Amino acid sequence: MSRSKVTVVGAGNVGATAAQRIFDKGYADVVLVDIVDGLPQGKALDILESGPVSGSDASIVGANSYEETAGSDVVVITSGIARKPGMSRDDLLLTNMKIVTSVVNEVVAQSPDTILMPVTNPLDAMAQRAYQVSGFPKQRVVGMAGILDTARFRTFLAMELDVSVESIDAWVLGGHGDSMVPVVGSTIAGGQPVSKLIPKDRLDAIVKRTQDGGAEIVNYLKTGSAYYAPSAAIVQMVESILFDKKQILPCTAYLDGEYGIDGLFVGVPVKLGDGGVEEIVEFDLTSDESAALQRSADAVRELVEVMDNAGG
Ligand code: NAI
Ligand code: 2OP
Repeated sequence: MSRSKVTVVGAGNVGATAAQRIFDKGYADVVLVDIVDGLPQGKALDILESGPVSGSDASIVGANSYEETAGSDVVVITSGIARKPGMSRDDLLLTNMKIVTSVVNEVVAQSPDTILMPVTNPLDAMAQRAYQVSGFPKQRVVGMAGILDTARFRTFLAMELDVSVESIDAWVLGGHGDSMVPVVGSTIAGGQPVSKLIPKDRLDAIVKRTQDGGAEIVNYLKTGSAYYAPSAAIVQMVESILFDKKQILPCTAYLDGEYGIDGLFVGVPVKLGDGGVEEIVEFDLTSDESAALQRSADAVRELVEVMDNAGG
């Protein structure tokens, strides 16, 4: 069987867990890169040695440089600093901007035809930076956040209704920040709108818990942020690309006028296949939802302007 090749940059919590999940499935060889000497090598070897037990014959190697990453089909970028209690995702902006800039330059030199999947926060601004630095067409840069935010929303809704998470069809759009937009009008449980099934005050509380979902985990962990659900979301995107599944998923993509937003990465429904972002799907939003999406995009634009003014 010929395997795909996936590089994961950043061998921290999110990167190593995503690498492990991908290796376990066996369909892709994995390269794990980090700046810390020994960290990616040690984690990659540890994961490799799980193969005889998990039944994976894939390869996984760790590296502090990029030669091994050459010819990757997908490159997931998780390198950077993570949130600590009291920090917002936006507090990470300029530090992570420099890291993402240098990583993208290295990655692109080795894999000029790859699909870049930024994960580092603040996510939408980092996707914008990866797009600017790579010079790639907009289809080949797609950020991960919406699947995670939507998974949180689906989890809380399923708990409230005491139904399977698989019976909840939901969408969280906008930037991956406090202004993210859980689209209640398009959220369905077993064919029925959740607004008919859950009283308004409970639904409002679930929306708020979703928006605060990242901070809820940070407050428990204290030394870092979530990584199990984020890495699961990464794998769903990787598989939609590698297997050309063309799933419609909430992802962070470059908007060229869709939803009335121009020249900016924001979370929207995307058809994700082996060409990357093959289509931006435009939902009919209510006027309130549409206004909330514009506000969320404005918050992303502010970060992009701070980055652009900082240069680098
Ligand atoms: P972590 O601190 O566990 O791992 C980050 C890794 O990046 C570290 O091992 C560090 O050595 C490495 N690194 C730093 N600079 C590097 C460079 N120049 N080249 C290669 N590696 C470098 O952090 P964690 O928890 O894995 O989170 C990673 C990032 O992902 C953070 O920015 C976090 O906020 C973000 N995140 C985004 C999510 C999303 O939905 N988009 C969800 C969860 C986390
Ligand atoms: C999260 O939402 C920290 O962005 C990360 O968990």
